Amino acid sequence: MTNEESPNLSSFDDESLNKAFAALEQQARDDASSLDSPDAVEAFRLRWTGRKQGRLNDVSSRWLKAAPSEARKSVGERFKTLKDLVEGLLEQAAGSGPTDATLAAEAIDITLPGTRRLTGAEHPITRTLNEIVSVFAALGYSVGVGPEVETDYYNFESMNFPPGHPARDTQDTLVIANQEKRGLRERLLLRTHTSPVQMRTMERQPPPVRIVIPGKVHRNDAADATHSPIFHQVEGLCVDTNITFSDLKGTLDHAMKALFGSAVKTRFFPSFFPFTEPSADVQISCIFCGGKGCRKCKNSGWIELLGCGMVDPAVFAFAAEKQPAYDPKKISGFAFGMGVERIAMMKYGISEIGQFYAGDMRFLGQFA
Ligand code: PHE
Repeated sequence: MTNEESPNLSSFDDESLNKAFAALEQQARDDASSLDSPDAVEAFRLRWTGRKQGRLNDVSSRWLKAAPSEARKSVGERFKTLKDLVEGLLEQAAGSGPTDATLAAEAIDITLPGTRRLTGAEHPITRTLNEIVSVFAALGYSVGVGPEVETDYYNFESMNFPPGHPARDTQDTLVIANQEKRGLRERLLLRTHTSPVQMRTMERQPPPVRIVIPGKVHRNDAADATHSPIFHQVEGLCVDTNITFSDLKGTLDHAMKALFGSAVKTRFFPSFFPFTEPSADVQISCIFCGGKGCRKCKNSGWIELLGCGMVDPAVFAFAAEKQPAYDPKKISGFAFGMGVERIAMMKYGISEIGQFYAGDMRFLGQFA
């Protein structure tokens, strides 16, 4: 829009002013008489009250400000009247409002349902992992973590798997490529269990230690209904003076009852791990049949759930290289490790481990 200017005023006596303002008022009325659409109202608004090019602004800057001081009051009063008139006209025009047809076209049906956002929920693995951790946290255990890409030393050697020891073969290891230039101890691999964090913890702090270590582990296993090359474990380590196998049994019996219900019984079977001596597999009474025998427990009434044992003195000897207080003559301890997927599958009656990783909302939604 071009700037529409009112003529400059040459005299400021009442008569001249009345005439000049009357002409403007007439113009405003004429303009307002033909406002038949929202666009026209908007054009009127801009033309008269626009900040830069509006006529009111023009009058204010050229008549009001140019007025000699004795005429300023009378110009101001008339300007105010004009301004009120324009605003009144504008209000009237806007008030007459859009037509029913325009309204109908723009209407929103507020009775339509809104967009519903899905509520987030913990993944069943995270949930089970947190639940296991909190059982031990309530017993005074702290929580630790360690790297998933681990050295041969922490994953194997310091856990008392000597180089070339056949027990290494029981944990089908995924190794990182191009490590041949490094010494065996420094070679990188994907940790096959959370046990290396036992050593990392002991190297950092002298006894006593009570810690649980949740985390992801990797094995070169073919995927099937119950195996996945990536899964989760919760490791436990307790080291202090006079820790005995009874402490281990009591702790794990309590933990299994806390996780699966107080009716659950536990039993310990001799087993082997290089880093514990003696070692045991823990079985719980079948939570599906209560121990009577069913398909899930292969009619034995028992289900094997985790590995554990008393920390092998050879492991303490590795820890003592950095922390001499790990003297097996003065301290003792136990360790355990459990698979999170396996526990989650039992708790929630899931028969395919792959369900955890498929990202199928029909499955995951059941945990929301
Ligand atoms: N690290 C063992 C495994 O992955 C489990 C375990 C941990 C056993 C601690 C005993 C003590 O099979």
